[in-house]
Amino acid sequence: MVKTVGIGITGGIASYKIADLVSKLKKDDLDVIVMMTEGASKFITPLTLKTLSGREVVTDLWTESLEWKVQHIGVAEQLDLLVIAPATANFIAKMAHGLADDLLSTVVVANTAPVLVVPSMNTNMYNNPIVQDNINTLVNYGYHFMDPDSGVLACGVSGKGRLPEIADIYQQIIALLSPNNDLFGKRIMINAGTTCEDIDPVRFISNRGTGKMGFALAREAAQRGADVILVSGPSPLSAPPNVKHVSVWSAQEMCEIMLKYQSACDVIIGAAAVGDFRIANVAEQKMKKTEDKSRKLTLELVENPDILKELGKRKQDNLIMVGFAAETENVLENARKKLVSKNLDLIVANDVTMEGAGFATDTNIVTLINRAGELVALPKMSKDMVAAAIIDRVVELM
Ligand code: PMT
Repeated sequence: MVKTVGIGITGGIASYKIADLVSKLKKDDLDVIVMMTEGASKFITPLTLKTLSGREVVTDLWTESLEWKVQHIGVAEQLDLLVIAPATANFIAKMAHGLADDLLSTVVVANTAPVLVVPSMNTNMYNNPIVQDNINTLVNYGYHFMDPDSGVLACGVSGKGRLPEIADIYQQIIALLSPNNDLFGKRIMINAGTTCEDIDPVRFISNRGTGKMGFALAREAAQRGADVILVSGPSPLSAPPNVKHVSVWSAQEMCEIMLKYQSACDVIIGAAAVGDFRIANVAEQKMKKTEDKSRKLTLELVENPDILKELGKRKQDNLIMVGFAAETENVLENARKKLVSKNLDLIVANDVTMEGAGFATDTNIVTLINRAGELVALPKMSKDMVAAAIIDRVVELM
């Protein structure tokens, strides 16, 4: 059956971005009912959203309904999910206090479907304890919230308050519409991306890991109800919704964090390209060039801890551990060795020489190998789909 999503737009500058969200949802053949506050109509016209949603936009509490039902009740009854985006501080306050003085707030009170709230506002407004209390009140009532992104806001201030990427809001909507809670109650720690090792105060060595693979795993696990801790080195990506993101710099830092959380985890997945080496003696001051162009500079490297191996040594019963093997030759053989030496339950062999596989790509080509030596070779798929296939295996292992 076609699902119906109510999109409630309130009066923030980010309102115009919701046109893209409505268009994406319609392309998925969802039925979309757009509701706008008076403030929202000042930022984007109902006509734009009517055209994109393919149905009348609901704005006024006093418009006579063509159907016998009172309009706000009629709308609320149709919804499988209600999304408030962007949600202003004012509208969040109204929801937290059950006010119903316009069409959208009345629908919120009459609604019984899950609600997703996506706040977007000035940083100081967002951090205001009154706003935070209102958010907590709604969270305690079971409302789902997405954290705003950080960046330069329309008001010129830099900080938290931007509307999250439309792609992320869309993902969250899809997850809430089709809940697959097979990881509910499980805690999963995933590492992702690269790590960095300082040479001096301004230079470092790193690798090509972007976090795309690990972040996709974190998103998938969170969507399936897991409590997710994502530990990543620097990455251009925003953490997926409902994920605890711990940002680190070096392999040693990543190792410390993961050891700290290990005992609280049911599953650990190592998707990060952890730097195997670090500089033996990090220069305290910026290293200078000299006039002697024939001079050769030698960096002495020492080995970093092997994080998965350390976790594998301390592996408690019932902990499932999954690793990746980024290989350029003898892929399956090397992957199998890593499965055993790191005490893993599953290894994801990743031939990073193949086109569309490995670092920084949106797709990956992997073979899953378990302790019994069984292989599942997956074709080239998006990293989101690879993540889903890996999580399916993890669920089977549990
Ligand atoms: O982030 P993307 O740009 O999307 O790229 C994805 C990826 C290529 C990084 C990912 O698909 C991948 O293959 N990750 C593993 C990279 C790697 O370092 O593989 P490895 O074969 O060197 O290490 C084997 C396993 O041990 C890995 O799970 C790794 O996280 C772990 N390891 C490695 C070294 C180390 N010091 N500590 C570790 O825990």
